[in-house]
Parts: sequence; structure tokens; C-alpha cells
Amino acid sequence: MMAKALATEAELNFLAVKGPALRDVAGPLGRPTEIEKWGRVACVGGGVGTAVLFPLAKALAEIGNEVTTIIGGRAASYIILADELGAFSKEVLITTEDGSLGRKGFVTAELADLIADPARAPLAVFAVGPVPMMKAVVEQTRPHGIKTLVSLNPIMIDGTGMCGGCRVIVGGETKFACVDGPEFDGHQVDFASLTDRLTMYRDVEEKCRLENRQGSAQ
Ligand code: FES
Repeated sequence: MMAKALATEAELNFLAVKGPALRDVAGPLGRPTEIEKWGRVACVGGGVGTAVLFPLAKALAEIGNEVTTIIGGRAASYIILADELGAFSKEVLITTEDGSLGRKGFVTAELADLIADPARAPLAVFAVGPVPMMKAVVEQTRPHGIKTLVSLNPIMIDGTGMCGGCRVIVGGETKFACVDGPEFDGHQVDFASLTDRLTMYRDVEEKCRLENRQGSAQ
């Protein structure tokens, strides 16, 4: 299990993540990943999305796919699992926004080079990371007709398909990421509505964060 701490100590207490125990864990949720023999595949991970990408890329390699892994982050400290992914990837390409590790820039630069090279071009792409990154990957593969699966991370509440919090539009239909996903055909995903939904509670989240900080300071 991998976790990225974004919160202050007080906020982590609020989430009841203390010591060596988590209060609750639910899962597995959703549908299993489509692991098929494609031949050459590219697995693209951004930030903590690389942790989600890891078992997926490993399973693809284990059934005989030639996996090229591209991982990116804001800086070197945000790059995770490069060695572990290297154990079964044909190559691991790293990008950082500040150039502190690997190529300076975004994962899409490496993907563009890969697609342009007939000897390395992937027949399928798997992308896990921030929504803008997945959207950019999808727009890169769309003109080439390369099958692209994205792992979506909408707001989730119950994780059982009852609250509707995680709904996304895929191919013009409403889907629930917690039961129908989390992976979807990226070329069918309505990224604009996903982005809107991810930011719709930002004011409330910020207000809670401030109240929590003030409470912990007293
Ligand atoms: S999280 Fe409630 S329906 Fe998916």
C-alpha cells in the first residue's frame, strides 16, 4: 500500500490515519483491469498514479507484452517505483517538470517520441495520473487510433454504486467509476465534465481545511 501525505498532521488525525493501523479499508472495488496480449504497450504514470500503474504494468508484462514505462512528476522526489518498474519494463523513461531527473517536461514528450518510432510504437496505452495528464495522453493517441485505457479518480463516497458521487460520462453514458471502472476507454471519456466535478467542492474543502487548522492551533 502506498500513500501520499498532503494534509497537515491535524488533518491526518481527522482522517484517523494513526500509527500502524488504518481505521477502514474497503475493496476490491470496481471491475478487474483488462489484461490482454497486445504485443507492445506503453504504461504512463504521473505522480502517485504510478503506484496504481505498477501492478497493471507488471500483469501486462507477465503475459508477454513488451512494456515501455513512462513516469513523470513535478521533480525527482515525486518519481516513484522506477527501479521496480524497470525489473520488467523494456525501458523506463522518466520526465520531471523541473528537469531534476530524466527529461525536462511532461510524459507526453516521451510518448510522442515513442509513437513516432515504428519500432517502438505501442499498440495500447495505459495511463494513470492527474486528469490533465490522462487527457493529454488520450489526445495524443486519438489520431493514431491507439487503444488507450485511463484509470479515473473522481470523488468517491460510498464506493458501492449507490451515492452517485463518482459518476463520469463515457461514450455519452453515465457510468460510476467505483463499479463500472475505474478503467475506461480514454477516447470515450468526457474529461471536461470530470474536471468540473473534481473541482466542484473546492471551496468547501478549503473552508474545512482552514477550520481544521484553526481548531488544531487553539
Ligand atoms: S462512490 Fe458512490 S456511486 Fe461510486
